[in-house]
Amino acid sequence: MYAGRYARTGPEVSRRPSSPKLAGYEAAPNIALVKYWGMRDDRLVLPNNSSLSMTVSQLRTRTWVRFDPSLPRDRFWLNGRPAAAGPLRGAVEFLDRVREEADVSSYAEVRSRNNFPTASGLASSASGFAALAGAASRAAGLQLTPRELSRLARQGSGSASRSVFGGFVEWQMGQRSDGRDSYARPLFLPDHWPELRDVVVIVSDAPEKAIRSANAMQETVRTSPAYAERLRTVPRRLAAIRNALRTRASDRFLELVIEECDDFRRVCETTVPSLDHLTPVSRAVLGAVLDLNRAAGHAIAGYTHDAGAHVHVFTLRPMVPQVRALLRRIPGVADTRVLGPGPAAREIRSTGR
Ligand code: PMV
Repeated sequence: MYAGRYARTGPEVSRRPSSPKLAGYEAAPNIALVKYWGMRDDRLVLPNNSSLSMTVSQLRTRTWVRFDPSLPRDRFWLNGRPAAAGPLRGAVEFLDRVREEADVSSYAEVRSRNNFPTASGLASSASGFAALAGAASRAAGLQLTPRELSRLARQGSGSASRSVFGGFVEWQMGQRSDGRDSYARPLFLPDHWPELRDVVVIVSDAPEKAIRSANAMQETVRTSPAYAERLRTVPRRLAAIRNALRTRASDRFLELVIEECDDFRRVCETTVPSLDHLTPVSRAVLGAVLDLNRAAGHAIAGYTHDAGAHVHVFTLRPMVPQVRALLRRIPGVADTRVLGPGPAAREIRSTGR
């Protein structure tokens, strides 16, 4: 039986327990167009600014959870293997929150699979915790609304709050100290801008992620002299991106995506010690996008990246062949994948195993 101790998280999720069962959930990663970077409360994962992302197509995490009174501890199988210490700890802490809310006392078996490389900078923590939140809450007998699920997923990994929804999603930072008003909401459904494409550029020189984003961002909050200015400018940029998305104003949208990415990179690079997520190959990709836009006289593509070396290059569908060919010619680009706006997280019934 589970006998650990955990901090109460307050009335974060509703209690409508039914009996525990095996439950499965799938969720897609998202790429942030306005980044979440910095928390005012790192236990409840409450951010310093609202953020906005696109949930992507094709990539997904599928997770199955079963609470079992006969288990001596939580078990976590990631892509068919026992999970390493870091991911296991994160999952156990997250399961503790669910057990607390659902009044479940047994340990759980978790089986999770990504259809893309884990911890490769393709946001497996966002899809991972969104899928785990869905599967664990259902397995524990909780019936959560999408908003409640978003609040729960947020506490595993901030960006996971956004992967609960499909299409274009905003995580509103909220003001309350208990986090009840800090959750994501869908802005535009996936079919709002079906022409929009995200060409993911996989670079061959990407290192393993050295430090968790949740820790790295707090170093930025503490030490970057550019961070306060970023917090002042984000609300204006967020409104501008929301507006460009609403009107499908591609030039404006792509320019803003680059501006936000550059601002995010500035606060990372001015963190002490400096956070440098990019490799020489990633930098060549950014340079190629800027050259392309300069030569065209307007924005054809817009780059962004998260806390990793792979680069997401946004463009419109008719431009994909040209943009992709250009990026593939860059030495050190290992692969490109073309993604679009993707679906919301959902419960899955068949185990598929
Ligand atoms: O959700 P976390 O703790 O993995 O942090 C995500 C941080 C960024 O990916 C860089 C930005 C974001 O909003 O997704």
